[in-house]
Order: sequence, then structure tokens, then C-alpha cells
Amino acid sequence: MIVAMDRFCGPDEIEHVEQVMAGTDVQAVRTVLEGRTHLITAERDRRALASRLRLLPGVTSVVEPPGNLRLSSRAHRAQDTVVKVSDVSFGGDPFVVVAGPCAVESRDQLAATARSVALGGAAVLRGGSYKPRTSPYSFQGLGSEGLGLLAEQRAATGLPVVTEVVDPADLTHVAEVADMVQIGTRNAQNYTLLREAGRAGKPVLLKRGMASTVEEWLLAAEYVLAEGNPDVVLCERGIRSFEPSTRFTLDLSAVVVAKRLSHLPVLVDPSHAAGQAELVRPLALAAAAVGADGVMVDVHPEPSTALCDAGQALTPAGFDELVTALDSLLAGMRRPLA
Ligand code: E4P
Ligand code: PEP
Repeated sequence: MIVAMDRFCGPDEIEHVEQVMAGTDVQAVRTVLEGRTHLITAERDRRALASRLRLLPGVTSVVEPPGNLRLSSRAHRAQDTVVKVSDVSFGGDPFVVVAGPCAVESRDQLAATARSVALGGAAVLRGGSYKPRTSPYSFQGLGSEGLGLLAEQRAATGLPVVTEVVDPADLTHVAEVADMVQIGTRNAQNYTLLREAGRAGKPVLLKRGMASTVEEWLLAAEYVLAEGNPDVVLCERGIRSFEPSTRFTLDLSAVVVAKRLSHLPVLVDPSHAAGQAELVRPLALAAAAVGADGVMVDVHPEPSTALCDAGQALTPAGFDELVTALDSLLAGMRRPLA
């Protein structure tokens, strides 16, 4: 149940509603979203209580979304959410291309990649500075130094920057530099990190956990939303399956399902899903065809030398071909590139 209070109601009215809920053993989480207080409970099917709450002073609406979703659900918000990252809109008509290296490796590598993706039509620059690696012996990223390089390339190209945070202790620093904070598949159910990202004051790009159901993914988004941050963009990046011919199995049906259940924008990362550069273009086109709000792809000036995920990075020329192909597909769908 979600009880939305009037924007101008007083603290007494909010407390009174909480007391009425507590009187029927319903504990509510208080969240301020877009300037108005919401009281949210995991309770379902409390129709009598909902009818009573609707009559209380200060209450503007009481919504009972079906299932476990609350703030991420279409029942809470029917229209698509548009998340602004600098001057780029995720979730509107324009299709957003996010591109850059998997990992920031050096000033030259990032500068060359940033220049080529900016010229090639990317709207947002990606680049990992804190890398979540399977092996502790693999390249872990440049950390704080890499954040500085990302800031330099934002200034040089004008592209806003998205970068991953893996440790809550780095969040403040990452959020100071990034225009959008990424939470990766390995941390998609790290509830401490999700809550803190909800308080960091920056839009969040939330990857789907590689073993998360769509509902679990959306409930992860609820952790961010419940902290009062409405700016969450979801990203499907493939799930674990029995199929070994790709790195993960890209679940494009999840894009359609997530957009049906939720008002949040949904991106697709074909690079991390496929793990193979030659599959990125067809999967990105398929993502556009099923109605994704954009794609995020790895690009490297010399993929064979990449320190992370070398097999899946597009060359700058491959990126240009991808954007050209997306542009013609999207033209037929009457959607511009952002
Ligand atoms: C990428 O960005 C991740 O850090 C990467 O996919 C990790 O994979 P690996 O450490 O298993 O190579
Ligand atoms: C990434 O995009 O850099 C990344 C680590 O992706 P994922 O979390 O999807 O593996």
C-alpha cells in the first residue's frame, strides 16, 4: 500500500495517518519523493484500511499495487518516468547510447575512446574506475585516479559520465564526480549500497543481478526509490543460464516485462551479456526493437589490449557502424537518437 500525503500537509497529519496504520499493525516506511511524503508498507489487500485512510486529512491518494512492487510499479505511477542526466533524458522518445571503455586504463586510452564515442553519436560516456573483478588478481581499476580522468573527458567532450561504485565507502567520492552512479550486477542485491545510492543525490543506473528475477531487480530499485531518489534507470545485462555460447543470456523479454510492470526507463547492455564484440550490434538492434530506452556498450581503441573484458569491446569503427544501424532502425520506429 502507498499512502501519498498532500504536499502542504503538516507533520501532525502525517503522524496521525501513521498512528491509524500502526493501530491495525501496519508499519509504514516514510519516504519523501518529489516533495511529498509517502507512507509505504509491504502489506497487501488491506482494502478496509485503505478506505479508512482515504478519508483522513492530508491524504491525497491510497494505492494498493498488486504484488510486491510499490514505488517502481505502474500502479504508483502510470506514465513513464524520464530520468535526466545532465541534459540527456532517459525514458522519453529519444534512444540513448551510452558508450566507453569497460575500464578506465589511462589518460590516453580514455581520451581516445571518449573522443571517438562522442563523434560517433554517444550521449553519455561510460567507464569503470572501480572494477568488480571475479579474480582478485585481475586489474581492479584506477580508482580515484580514474574518476579524475573521467571528469577531464567530460570537460573535453561535453558528455555526462556514468561510472560504477562497488564499495559504499567510495560512494560520496564517486557521486561527486559522476553524473550517474552505476550499481553493477554483482552488487544488485547489496542492500546497503542500494540504500546509500538512494541518498547520494545522483541518478542511479541499476544493472539486473545476473541471477535476479525481474521482480527482484525491481525490488532492488525500490531500495533506491524508498530513500527518496526517483531517478533510477534499469539495465538488463544478461542472466546466468545453461547456455554456454554467450557469456550470459540476454533476456530481452525482461525489458518488455519490466517496462510493463514499472514506469522506470530500461537500458540494455549487450556487451556484458554476449561477451563477444560481433554479437553486440545484432543484440543492440534487438534491444531497440523491443522498446528499450537505450543501450550501453563497451568501446576500446584497441580491444585486444583491453585490461578488462577485451572480447566484447567494439572498435571505434564498430561503434560507428552500430550507431548508423541503430539510427536507421529507430527512424522506422519514429524514435530519434538522443
Ligand atoms: C566488467 O566490467 C566486469 O568487471 C567484468 O565483466 C568482470 O568480469 P571478470 O572479472 O570475470 O573478467
Ligand atoms: C560494467 O558495466 O562495467 C559491468 C561491470 O557490468 P556488469 O555489472 O553488468 O557485469
